[in-house]
Amino acid sequence: MCGIVGYIGRQPAKKILIDGLRELEYRGYDSAGIAILQDSGFSTFKALGKLINLEKKSTSFETKGFSVGIGHTRWATHGKPTELNAHPHMGENSYVVHNGIIENYQELKNELQSDGVTFISQTDTEVIVHLFEHYLKNALEAFDAFKMMLSRIEGAFAILLVTTTKKNQIFFAKSGSPMILGINSEDEKFFGSSDAALIGKCENVIYLEDGDYGYLDEKDILLYNKDDKRQHLTFTSLPTSKLSAQKEGFRFFMEKEIYEQHDVISDTLIGRLSDEKIIFDELDDNFLDGINDITFSSCGTSYHSALTASYLFERYAKIKTSVEFASEFRYRSPLLNSSTLFVVISQSGETADTLETLKMAKDAGLKTLVICNVDNSSMVRLADYTILARAGIEKGVASTKAFATQVVVLWMLSLYIASKRKSLDTKEIAKEIKILREVPSKTIVNDELHERIHRLSKRYLHGHGFFFIGRDVFFPLALEGALKLKEISYLHAEGYPSGEMKHGPIALADPELFTIALLPKNMLYDKSKSNVEELSARDATICAISPVNFDKADDFIQISNTQHYMLEFFEMMVVVQLLSMEISIRLGNDVDMPRNLAKSVTVE
Ligand code: AGP
Repeated sequence: MCGIVGYIGRQPAKKILIDGLRELEYRGYDSAGIAILQDSGFSTFKALGKLINLEKKSTSFETKGFSVGIGHTRWATHGKPTELNAHPHMGENSYVVHNGIIENYQELKNELQSDGVTFISQTDTEVIVHLFEHYLKNALEAFDAFKMMLSRIEGAFAILLVTTTKKNQIFFAKSGSPMILGINSEDEKFFGSSDAALIGKCENVIYLEDGDYGYLDEKDILLYNKDDKRQHLTFTSLPTSKLSAQKEGFRFFMEKEIYEQHDVISDTLIGRLSDEKIIFDELDDNFLDGINDITFSSCGTSYHSALTASYLFERYAKIKTSVEFASEFRYRSPLLNSSTLFVVISQSGETADTLETLKMAKDAGLKTLVICNVDNSSMVRLADYTILARAGIEKGVASTKAFATQVVVLWMLSLYIASKRKSLDTKEIAKEIKILREVPSKTIVNDELHERIHRLSKRYLHGHGFFFIGRDVFFPLALEGALKLKEISYLHAEGYPSGEMKHGPIALADPELFTIALLPKNMLYDKSKSNVEELSARDATICAISPVNFDKADDFIQISNTQHYMLEFFEMMVVVQLLSMEISIRLGNDVDMPRNLAKSVTVE
């Protein structure tokens, strides 16, 4: 979820670019940079960490008169957060900034390196500027070279490129990552990854569509669509409030983050799936040497993704797996041995309890892996191996897309290990990979479904409590649904294994006890159904979530008919996230910053 800005005009460009990047800070980043081209040539600055570091580095610089400039805040996906990996990336006489992932970057990089091109970063982005210059060398016009480069790259991208070959132009392209082009009354042009970067600078904008590309100079904007047809310029006016711009039209960051799950899951998958293989560049060949079992340690929602993973690891990788609450693990003098792979899961990478258990494992000589959403966090810096979830910054305290991407990474990791341990053959892995590729489409929020959940939520605003129940991986999903509801509605809720209800909890069954029953068709449906019937027979109020109609439920939320329980898992995940959010909204709570909670619990 990097941030991109661009400017062409006669105002002080450095200030415009850095102010624009500041408005994009909400997208999260670990480094930033700008490149400004004037007659005298390029001036470029990059810095790790916050924008203040970039400002310090460029204090003595400011433009006078006409200039073109681009800027970027980087959220590391390929390559650690370092200055070398920070954007803009340079060629011999050009700079580029990019948001997205170039899927075929390795192939392009090899091709360019065999042509003698030297790369200085570990990023996928750097291939863009070298490929552009490669075509420029063949005496192509700059725009032709830009188009040739675009025809070679695959993946998601929003690109701004400037070059001394055309000092008064900015080249742009958009496919899969957001890019907005703005113009002010002095005919100056601006680019931004979201409205927030443009509000207050220009009044009229064009929201570029996928496949749009072109270039602009002080006078003209040449915009082409995916069919290479020159586009008529149709401007719309910008929203005025920055905060609503950061929420990109959603009511809450949590809502925005639920809606962007399908996008970020696509990012999580990019570069990690071939037709028959899971690819983790982050893991080396001796990752599993000497490993006989796995221990997960995490908290809260991250504990729920770990519990989900335990089912997948034992089912697919046939490896003994245990799951620990970090806050318990750290005080119970656990037995630790070096044949255990110790895996911590954390959105923030800073949770005190989880971090402490990672230190314990390191001190005891265990091999450690962190599944994390924040590169350069404490856990990432400490663990032997890191796999990034690539969810982008998660601002809602109630975790949603971080959970979704953690489960996707863990599912892939279970298959990766299954392949290494030969507990699944290539055909079985290929089948699972096909299903994995369907997950993004299963997490697209269906407006009708959202509206149905909104209407239905009015019935669940009281009562003496909720049970969320499920079996197998739907038990940790039930725990997660219950946590979401508790966190943002302040109503009491418990997640329970469906089969456990008869061992006590069913004593609570009455019309005021609301049970959210997860009834997947592809996992123990009949068993779960009879558990729910036991509750319904005792007059509990049942809301069933299932692809199969369930006539004994008071409410029924239908999900689509699929052939794999994990696709049902992700569809039901979206339902329980929306249900908790809609109930919380009806209760008038602060969905994004619920009482008593912090986004990252860095204290014990
Ligand atoms: C989840 O919605 C909560 N915000 C909380 O349980 C969170 O998952 C927990 O504090 C762990 O945080 P981490 O993933 O950043 O380690």
